[in-house]
Amino acid sequence: MTMVITRDTLASTALLDVRGLRVHYDTPSGDVIAVNGVDFQVRPGETVGLVGESGCGKTTLAMAILRLVQPPGRIVDGEVLLEGTDVVRLSEGRLRELRWRKLALIPQGAMNSLNPVMRIKDQIGDAILTHEGRQAKPGLRERIIKLLSLVGLPSRVYTMYPHELSGGMKQRVCIAMAIALNPPLIIADEPTSALDVVVQRLVGQTLLEVKKSLGMAMILIGHDMGLQAQLVDRLAIMYAGNIVENAPVNSAFAEPLHPYTQLLIASIPSIKERKPLRLTEGLTHDLRRPPPGCVFQFRCPQVMERCRTVVPPLRELKPNHFAACHLYHDLRMPNDAAPAGNS
Ligand SMILES: Nc1ncnc2c1ncn2[C@@H]1O[C@H](COP(=O)(O)OP(=O)(O)OP(=O)(O)O)[C@@H](O)[C@H]1O
Ligand code: SF4
Ligand SMILES: [Mg+2]
Repeated sequence: MTMVITRDTLASTALLDVRGLRVHYDTPSGDVIAVNGVDFQVRPGETVGLVGESGCGKTTLAMAILRLVQPPGRIVDGEVLLEGTDVVRLSEGRLRELRWRKLALIPQGAMNSLNPVMRIKDQIGDAILTHEGRQAKPGLRERIIKLLSLVGLPSRVYTMYPHELSGGMKQRVCIAMAIALNPPLIIADEPTSALDVVVQRLVGQTLLEVKKSLGMAMILIGHDMGLQAQLVDRLAIMYAGNIVENAPVNSAFAEPLHPYTQLLIASIPSIKERKPLRLTEGLTHDLRRPPPGCVFQFRCPQVMERCRTVVPPLRELKPNHFAACHLYHDLRMPNDAAPAGNS
């Protein structure tokens, strides 16, 4: 018998369970609603891809999960349960303990944030010492070299400075730092975006191998649907602060349900056929004034009257496959009693 995974079973087995998360940026002309009531789960060992166009709130969501949103941003509402502990309500002291040990971040543009005047051994060493305290030098050296080898770097990188490394190598150093304390969850924010295509794939591959060998879960943020298709187990599609579809990667590609996901997939370049870009650029509504109804209504080729006034809830429309769209209004699922709602 196949087990049907509902939102509730997902939540109960989740390593990370984000519920109704809202993040606003206070600006003189009003609150920018960057994350608009997001529900989102990651199970142990799972790789979840978070995709959506620039400005849709991916980094803000990642930073909110770590409670690292900087002013004028603030978490307005919601819970971020990591192994059952609500990160949003933790004391600063407990939060510092939890970061890196339980949850590590490879930030957007990480490779450019390496300290140019510190050798790699000291940058990785500092990350370990800050969280674990003093330890014997030979053991620490061995551990750092092992970390470098895990991310595909030769041991000579140990004594090098960032400027002596290529972009791909620097990004591998950032991955090594994130896995140094073997956290159960890593968030990688566009870890390959500044690299050339071949290096992107190699670094992506390394991330997966590291993840597999250490058994950690990962949220992989990115734009590149093709790369995501190769790397992730689940895909969460974000649009204007909302998760509009969340599905196993095969199901998301084989049968995307949300019109936005359909357009994203239709726009993936193919060598076999030249196709026009189906998605127009930069026409998201003003995030300070979200429209009533569906957030995608201004760009949706299938918009209906109802979409202008009623927010479509994120519903499980196929087993383990959630989408927020009125096109499926009449479709009934056995788990409809417990919808996972975007508001
Ligand atoms: N400090 C800020 N003040 C006001 N608005 C902000 C601030 N930081 C981010 N925003 C807005 O919040 C929204 C989400 O930004 P975020 O950086 O999370 O998007 P993103 O999906 O990570 O984009 P990208 O793919 O370009 O990295 C954007 O519309 C952005 O303009
Ligand atoms: S709810 Fe309506 S506007 Fe929104 S994606 Fe579905 S059909 Fe399009
Ligand atoms: Mg970003």
